[in-house]
Amino acid sequence: MLKLTSVHTSYDHIKALKGIDIEVDKGEIACLIGSNGAGKTTTLLTISGILKPDSGEITFEGEPLKNISPHNIVNKGICQVPEGRRVFPRLTVLENIEMGAFGAKGKNFHRNLEKIFLLFPILKERKNQMGGTLSGGEQQMLAIGRALMANPKLLLLDEPSLGLAPIMVSKIFKTIKEINEEGVTILLVEQNAKAALRLSHCGYVLENGTIKLHGSGEELLHNEDVKKAYLGE
Ligand SMILES: Nc1ncnc2c1ncn2[C@@H]1O[C@H](COP(=O)(O)OP(=O)(O)OP(=O)(O)O)[C@@H](O)[C@H]1O
Ligand SMILES: [Mg+2]
Repeated sequence: MLKLTSVHTSYDHIKALKGIDIEVDKGEIACLIGSNGAGKTTTLLTISGILKPDSGEITFEGEPLKNISPHNIVNKGICQVPEGRRVFPRLTVLENIEMGAFGAKGKNFHRNLEKIFLLFPILKERKNQMGGTLSGGEQQMLAIGRALMANPKLLLLDEPSLGLAPIMVSKIFKTIKEINEEGVTILLVEQNAKAALRLSHCGYVLENGTIKLHGSGEELLHNEDVKKAYLGE
């Protein structure tokens, strides 16, 4: 469904991605793990079209994404939940969700809204409350809900569990699984490698802008190097 071939991306003179290959199949959860500064966010921003790669190719459903604007990449079905959630603090929960449909009451608006409230009942309870008054975990739910309004085929999640209490982390991971079971393909970026690999069909280990390893979630969980570097075992 999504294929990155030898993708290089840089910020001025800093080479953040040094030729990465990633493939995500339709229907699966793939994860990208790696430490701070490895290039995880850069990878997602390059897929979303916000950063332009220096070289390499990205295709989605067989079509190259080169020269397609970020807005049209969303329209093709790729939607990103950004690192740090970026909820609009002075908009209500409902208004934040509506922003995901680009403010317009787009395709499947009411059906999507119902689905989101079913997935996250707390958002329904808080729908008239300002986004900025939600807890960290609730803001993460809101950011995911907002992304679902755009009818994604592929959802890119950037560290959804960051800074959350363990119970909220489990809830977010459970929800990611549910969203995937409804047919949305997922590329999950996480520093919580153990939880991410347990959930994922396949995983990639990114180190210093290059893919060091890839395999099934199960394989990586049992890989000695992964265990030492990322699982604290
Ligand atoms: N706007 C920027 N300008 C210059 N360099 C940047 C910029 N954003 C990221 N970088 C650099 O690119 C590299 C990759 O950063 P990136 O944000 O992709 O890492 P990451 O894996 O998402 O890290 P983290 O886990 O801390 O979020 C780092 O060396 C970082 O310093
Ligand atoms: Mg990051």
